[in-house]
Amino acid sequence: MTGRYYLRSFGCQMNAHDAERIRALLEAEGLERAEAPDDADVLVYNTCTVRKSADDRLAGHLGTAARLKRQDPARVVLVTGCLPQAEQAGFFARFPFVDGALGPQNLHRLPELLHEAVEPAGVSPAGFFEDGPRLSGSLSARRERPFQAWVQVMSGCTNYCSYCIVPFVRGPERSRPAGELAAEVEALAADGVREVTLLGQNVNAYGIDLGSGGDAPAPDFAGLLRRLDTIEGLERVRFMTSHPKDLGDDLIAAVAELRTVCEHVHLPAQAGSDRVLRRMRRGYTAEQYLERVHALRAAVPGVSITTDLIAGFPGETDVDFGDTLALVREAAFDAAFTFVYSPRVGTAAADLPDQVPPDVRRERVESLIELTQQQALAAHRTWVGRRAEVLVEGASRDGVQHRGRIRQNVTVNVSGAVEPGAIVMVDITAATSTTLRGSI
Ligand code: SAH
Ligand code: SF4
Ligand code: F3S
Repeated sequence: MTGRYYLRSFGCQMNAHDAERIRALLEAEGLERAEAPDDADVLVYNTCTVRKSADDRLAGHLGTAARLKRQDPARVVLVTGCLPQAEQAGFFARFPFVDGALGPQNLHRLPELLHEAVEPAGVSPAGFFEDGPRLSGSLSARRERPFQAWVQVMSGCTNYCSYCIVPFVRGPERSRPAGELAAEVEALAADGVREVTLLGQNVNAYGIDLGSGGDAPAPDFAGLLRRLDTIEGLERVRFMTSHPKDLGDDLIAAVAELRTVCEHVHLPAQAGSDRVLRRMRRGYTAEQYLERVHALRAAVPGVSITTDLIAGFPGETDVDFGDTLALVREAAFDAAFTFVYSPRVGTAAADLPDQVPPDVRRERVESLIELTQQQALAAHRTWVGRRAEVLVEGASRDGVQHRGRIRQNVTVNVSGAVEPGAIVMVDITAATSTTLRGSI
């Protein structure tokens, strides 16, 4: 096949990694990358549906795709990822110009989907949505940068938090064998990768589904980190996401002890009221959450702890929300992603009778944003006057400087002569709630 493809991806890092595989698959078919939809013969949208705002954003992009398809009906429009997986037939009813769609567990069938889509018009659009044990984890990926890579240690989620669509669209937790992962990371390191980010919706549950094999115990995540730590050439290992209910002392010890493992844990709290946490089915109390935060801070000097928070979950009262503010104050987060609760069709919470009015949800998220930004600024200011290790990733947004990240995952704008991929020591001179500034 000849021609050009345009790919736009939304959502979490798992989806961004899927996008790298989509590129690899399309390029293996002979298609070349286009930077704008107008220049492409094949348009691919890799979607997220975790909140309604994600759906709304996509609708705008699909409007462009529909217009381009009207101009040139030979153009192919494909949609991948979590939204068509959630809606299936309903998706094609809403977007009849889409030529084909598949869900995240069927990425390996993208070439097939593409060939069916370029068949003469008149056939109904193809869709691949079945749940299957086939992991896309082992599909090859077209990396954005030569020195950084994502590695998917597991797919899916079996937690069924009551607000969350992810288990419905990504299937149950399935781990990849530890040997396969070690071999993949070794190959990446040999290919020049210095930093890997291990991906899973709940990496602390890694290995549980594999069970023990004969005499060998089931692999676990801390053990996997120890195995990867010995790989030559590998400098940094990041991982996400950690579920608080499964964050064990063994993982804390691994973060504290291992050379490669970065001092950053993303630990979504979601809420601080035990009543709300129970209704969210999170499996921990505020006290248990904070105990894990304190254990991390005690074991790992200078560790950065970041979180996700949801404002306005059904039934959340002012008192409950006050408990969330109290938890945030005590945890003293380095950064937080704050979300307005968004009902998702098919999830348990969507049917709860006591939905919080949208303006109250908004108001609450505003106070969370204010508090967590103050915390981030305070945390970042502690870096000013100190020296930090930075992996340089590329040019900064202003184009004048370089941009990179410290081990604690804060972005730094760096001045000085250096090439992307270098790990350098940087004197930090200034801080905002989102970034640091410094010079080599
Ligand atoms: N597996 C991760 C994150 C998955 S989704 C975890 O367990 O934390 C990323 C974040 O989106 C979640 O942490 C949650 O804060 C948010 N989120 C998920 N569903 C949501 C919903 N229906 N409304 C608002 N925020 C939601
Ligand atoms: Fe969603 Fe909960 Fe699974 Fe995270 S752990 S993906 S929030 S169901
Ligand atoms: Fe979105 Fe799917 Fe990730 S719903 S957050 S892209 S798992």
